[in-house]
Amino acid sequence: MKKNIILIGFMGIGKGTTARAYAKKYKCFNIDTDDLIESKTNKRVKEIFEEKGEKYFRKLEQDCANWIEGSVDKTFISCGGGFYNVKNLKKLGTVVLLDASYDWIYNRLSTAENSKSKLKKRPLFSEPKKAKKLYKEREEAYKKIADVIINVEDKDIKNIIREIHKLSYI
Ligand code: S3P
Repeated sequence: MKKNIILIGFMGIGKGTTARAYAKKYKCFNIDTDDLIESKTNKRVKEIFEEKGEKYFRKLEQDCANWIEGSVDKTFISCGGGFYNVKNLKKLGTVVLLDASYDWIYNRLSTAENSKSKLKKRPLFSEPKKAKKLYKEREEAYKKIADVIINVEDKDIKNIIREIHKLSYI
């Protein structure tokens, strides 16, 4: 079993922030699946959606998962919100879900300092109504695939990373 932490959850819940804080505190490597895809294609996620469509992006996510399976261990991996759907997710490491209500996530995103850019770079968040529908569609699937669920509502980042670290998988 690989010793990666695979951090999943809905867009805007704070996966990237959590991964960076964890890596800084516990001195491990961290990578992000959207960043890997952007560096491989030399395009932003938003551009990939616009130019090639969502289906193509999902294929890139699967390629990324295959590369992680073959090449990455002992790393904290934050994932795009749809990455939970890759076929080999459970082979990549311990799957940790960050969980919160849709309203909490929306509030976090819309009150962030750089809220405009945070919303703009996420094509599936361009219409809040659609995003809420997507949240509802995914809610159960996220919970079903997770090994561990961490509720992050009103929790300090220090406590969140400590909770993850208690798992001691890296
Ligand atoms: C997506 C989430 C995004 C990004 C892409 C699709 C999704 O990542 O991968 O826009 O399907 O939920 P974040 O969860 O980091 O926003």
